[in-house]
Amino acid sequence: MVPEKFEGINMPRHIGIIMDGNGRWASKRGLERSEGHKAGAEVFRRICDYGAEIGIECMTFYAFSTENWRRPPKEVAAIMKLFRSFLKEAEEREKENERKGLRFHLIGEKRGLPADIVKSIETLEEESADKKIMRVNLAINYGGRDEILHSVKELAARVKRGELSPGDITEDDISANLFTAGQPDPDLIIRPSGEYRLSNFMIWQAAYSEFWFSDILWPDFTTDDLDRAILDYAARNRRFGAV
Ligand code: IPE
Ligand code: IPE
Ligand code: MG
Repeated sequence: MVPEKFEGINMPRHIGIIMDGNGRWASKRGLERSEGHKAGAEVFRRICDYGAEIGIECMTFYAFSTENWRRPPKEVAAIMKLFRSFLKEAEEREKENERKGLRFHLIGEKRGLPADIVKSIETLEEESADKKIMRVNLAINYGGRDEILHSVKELAARVKRGELSPGDITEDDISANLFTAGQPDPDLIIRPSGEYRLSNFMIWQAAYSEFWFSDILWPDFTTDDLDRAILDYAARNRRFGAV
């Protein structure tokens, strides 16, 4: 059910969110950075449920990049702990059938992630596979360049096996071997925290995405902010190179 405030507008089908600003949010309060990640995880839960409520088809949450391993081990460990507790809770909600139709999908490199986290994600993917309200992509150990590289390697293997000729490779072949295969490209990409960059987020899929930047730090991001981003998006004129 699309709420009244969005009636008749051009809703984005797929929204990507770069959940940035947790560290600064914590520092401003004299807290450890891990406290910022904890607060950010709560906002992720709320925004994810809200997206499903207002009828978004797909949301991608950038939670940990392939470059974030450069952070101090203590901070990385705190973030992994938050993933574990989210996954445990999601699995329980799944069992009790409380996950209102959310279908989860990992986009990111499994290699390099702790084995128990990979296992929990795989279980959640399997158990939520038949859910239809909204698809939730969890971008964990995700990098856009890494994803393209992954796709290119797949295609190279097909060429080597004689199944594909190099001259016949299309853009669709590259898309079909990304982690987001079969999904619509993000219509709207939201980045809070006052940074104006993609930081390796969906660099292939973002070719014609609309961007919404804001100074709000992710732990302060509210459902009203998401509404604002959607309404701004709906007022834009997407031309895709045409007139
Ligand atoms: C985003 O918040 C969370 C991750 C990248 C894991 P940051 O931790 O990057 O917060 P800032 O940018 O330092 O404020
Ligand atoms: C992007 O934020 C990654 C995530 C939000 C998961 P970063 O904080 O890592 O990005 P940079 O380093 O400021 O570009
Ligand atoms: Mg950051």
